[in-house]
Amino acid sequence: MTALLYGSSREDGNTYKIAQEYKKHHVVDVFSLGTYHITEYDYLHRNEQDDFLKLIDVLMQYDTWILASPIYWYSMSAKMKIFLDRTSDLITIRKELGRKLENKNMAALSCGDGPKVWESFFPPFKLTAQYFKMNYFGDFHAFANEKEIILPALSFLKER
Ligand SMILES: Cc1cc2nc3c(=O)[nH]c(=O)nc-3n(C[C@H](O)[C@H](O)[C@H](O)COP(=O)(O)O)c2cc1C
Repeated sequence: MTALLYGSSREDGNTYKIAQEYKKHHVVDVFSLGTYHITEYDYLHRNEQDDFLKLIDVLMQYDTWILASPIYWYSMSAKMKIFLDRTSDLITIRKELGRKLENKNMAALSCGDGPKVWESFFPPFKLTAQYFKMNYFGDFHAFANEKEIILPALSFLKER
């Protein structure tokens, strides 16, 4: 089962459109970080009760995670960065959850408004996947604008 998690500064923007396009052709459940209250990493874990661990519990039901983000300044969105930062909770206060990531599949999807691919976008996703011993199956770029929605084939079985 595949979960596509996106983090955009607008709920119905280009990244949302790309996620919906993907859903037309694949069995996938789409989640938006914007619908969760997730605060930035806290060394003292005072935010343990926010939505991060609740979302992780949901995502744990999926063996494949596609993390999709708009490209903001050559990088992932702040929402997605906060999500990735918070995975530090999975190596500190919730180590047993971190270990469960092992062997899950992960890919990153950069969402722009044109075909330009920014290589700077992908390394944090790939390296984080490697850290958790997830199978990283690829860097993908998609784009949407007023005229078109272009999505690469995210067929990870072929890519791996
Ligand atoms: C703050 C900001 C920074 C952006 N930086 C880049 C960039 O570095 N490279 C790029 O190709 N597009 C950049 N864009 C364009 C967006 O990636 C593009 O419009 C994307 O499809 C927006 O998705 P959204 O509607 O989900 O936010 C930027 C847009 C914004 C709002």
